[in-house]
Amino acid sequence: MQNKLIPSFGRRKARKLRTQSQKAYQELLPLLQLDSPQKLFDQASSDVWLEIGFGGGEHFCEQLEQNPSISMIGCEPFMNGVAHLLLLLAPEDYERVRIWHEDVRHLFGIIPSSYFSRVFILFPDPWPKKRHQRRRLITSEFINILQQKLKNSALLHIASDDSAYVEQIQAILYHHPHFVLLEGPPSADPLTWSSRPKDWPTSRYEQKALNQGKKCAYMVFQKCEISK
Ligand SMILES: C[S@@+](CC[C@H](N)C(=O)[O-])C[C@H]1O[C@@H](n2cnc3c(N)ncnc32)[C@H](O)[C@@H]1O
Repeated sequence: MQNKLIPSFGRRKARKLRTQSQKAYQELLPLLQLDSPQKLFDQASSDVWLEIGFGGGEHFCEQLEQNPSISMIGCEPFMNGVAHLLLLLAPEDYERVRIWHEDVRHLFGIIPSSYFSRVFILFPDPWPKKRHQRRRLITSEFINILQQKLKNSALLHIASDDSAYVEQIQAILYHHPHFVLLEGPPSADPLTWSSRPKDWPTSRYEQKALNQGKKCAYMVFQKCEISK
């Protein structure tokens, strides 16, 4: 992936952190931060999952709780989101959590091939205005690199409430030679979208969208080694 990236996220920080969040950010983040390849999990000892853009970390924590044998890497450049996750985490889970507090596209440089067994990209920033669409994270180039980091049969979960972005995702992934669609609507028309799969925890952005009466598209792809 090119070195000079078009930013796919809006901001790195918002309001000033409260005392507790500031303390977690200053003291706990250095322990959990993935800042060198030596701090990567050994994938032979557990399944490693990745959440890209975890926001406030609600879905991330729920997955840790539901899946006690896995390890998770969370990527989020937004400081307030990282501080929020740090406060949510249970101390007994620290060992199986790493935080990449940067653009995920820079993480790929230190990740070996066939590393992750599950990846979540939930409600990536939709960038609906035409002039901003080049900032969308999910492009063919991005998926081709991500694909190399997935184990054979790994799952890729994607959700969005933006029909134009869903159309772009479907165009890239529904006929991708390295992915099979396991779940997902037949089109980008929200009328064809159905509800969230039962074992799929909610996220903050999703709740906001649903409260505004929007529909969401939920898609699950499986990596297949051999081109279809
Ligand atoms: C619309 S929010 C959704 C947050 C969360 N997934 C949810 O559903 O509540 C998108 C998040 O993706 C993060 N993001 C955008 N581009 C990213 C990138 N290149 N690497 C990692 N995170 C990114 C943003 O900072 C933001 O927190």
